[in-house]
Amino acid sequence: MTRGLVVALDGPASSGKSSVGAAAAARLGYRFCDTGLLYRAVTWLATRRGIGEGDPAALVRLVDEVELLSDEVGRLAHVAIDGEDATADVRGPEVDAAVSAISRVPELRAALLQRQRRLVDGGRIIMAGRDIGTVVLPDADLKLFLDASAEERARRRAEERGLDPAGPEAAEILAELRRRDELDSTRVVAPLRAAPDAIRLRTDGNAFEASVELVVDAIREREAGVAPTATTDAKEELPSNAPRSARRPARSARRPIEPTPIATRLNAVITIGSFVMRVIARIFTRVRIEGDVTAIPAAGGVLIAANHASNADPVLIGAFLNPRLGRPLNWLGKREVFDWPVLSWLARHGGVHPVDRGAADVEAFRSAMRILEAGHVLAVFPEGTRSPDGRLQAAKDGVAVLALRSGALVVPIGVGDSDRLWPKGRRMPRFTKSVTVRIGTPFVLAEALAAEDPVAAADRRLAKTAGTALIMRRIAALLPERQRGAYAD
Ligand code: DC
Repeated sequence: MTRGLVVALDGPASSGKSSVGAAAAARLGYRFCDTGLLYRAVTWLATRRGIGEGDPAALVRLVDEVELLSDEVGRLAHVAIDGEDATADVRGPEVDAAVSAISRVPELRAALLQRQRRLVDGGRIIMAGRDIGTVVLPDADLKLFLDASAEERARRRAEERGLDPAGPEAAEILAELRRRDELDSTRVVAPLRAAPDAIRLRTDGNAFEASVELVVDAIREREAGVAPTATTDAKEELPSNAPRSARRPARSARRPIEPTPIATRLNAVITIGSFVMRVIARIFTRVRIEGDVTAIPAAGGVLIAANHASNADPVLIGAFLNPRLGRPLNWLGKREVFDWPVLSWLARHGGVHPVDRGAADVEAFRSAMRILEAGHVLAVFPEGTRSPDGRLQAAKDGVAVLALRSGALVVPIGVGDSDRLWPKGRRMPRFTKSVTVRIGTPFVLAEALAAEDPVAAADRRLAKTAGTALIMRRIAALLPERQRGAYAD
């Protein structure tokens, strides 16, 4: 038997965490813990005793009266109060109505935190809750986020309680679920949120067994050292020309790679690395930087979109812009880079985020959104690969989707003549008179599109294509005529 993992399983109310998690644990011979029971049991006691969220000290005292009960296979899916199994009571509607308010009390959460952490000693456990991947077990071996639409979750709960899914009581359940979602996800302390490195499993339309299967598969893949990926709602945002294989979970047999932390400031690796690269670049050519760097703001999400004609492009853009911007660029990089010890270390400290080309777009999209939403700079090459002849190739729609979804400021950049400095297919750069990095005027894509093509701007699908073309035309305008290729007009 393998060592077994520590698995965080989060998700909103009625997403199936408790039932699916418990069933998956039984299949895998894992222990299971439903942390929601702790919050429910404290709430049940508090309601009995007339203690409200305004009395944190009294709430904390209740914690000692609550005990999780293990079944014969080690699942902590029952709770005892004063020695009596109270699971059925704490799952009732009375607790449903009060539990979100009680569980947002910071002192109570702190009191329950250590208790939850102690339970994972020995590994081989699935712990279910709202903040397990983000707060309780940020170092979990695997983080899963189980999700389904509010309508689907309400329907399941109505069926569980033997109610007509179209009846008035079911409508009430839906309203109640929405209220709890809102409370759980907007509270200040440990809000309900998928950890950035969590795998999102959507269960809409799934039979119970199918959801169990998803969880079991994800855990088995991670146990085997494979990076599991899963369907996410980002999948509909894949470029329409993406191969079907890119839309399916990857089943590569390689080891998973740790996510790179977002580069937020110019650290020593970036500063020294950029300096060394500038020195090397200047041995081969003169690098001219044109355009107004000061138009790029010092804070907030920025999406740099550049043409790609040479291996020299990331160096010319990154090494020369980092010091001028005063903030570092983040990049998406081939995962192969991370197979080399020194290179991997440099990449990880230099803001390069691994992208597995096999699994590709969903993961890449998620990393990219995370960087932009956190208000940092991401540089992308919308063409995807280097141009063979230096001329702009047709771009993928991913760049427009990112720009529209994140609302980040887009900065077009044209790197002129890098194909002469280091053409595709050559092992080494050549001595070249000069190359130019030309920075265009920053813009918000939704606004630029609304001004240029209101019909396309109003339609999600059209906006992707028209948005991509708009970005690429602005890059083309910054390039020497011979390089404008597919966007020459
Ligand atoms: O998973 P559940 O519906 O049984 O959880 C009941 C409530 O407990 C939920 O509305 C929020 C709270 N909870 C929490 O805040 N953190 C957890 N880790 C688990 C549950």
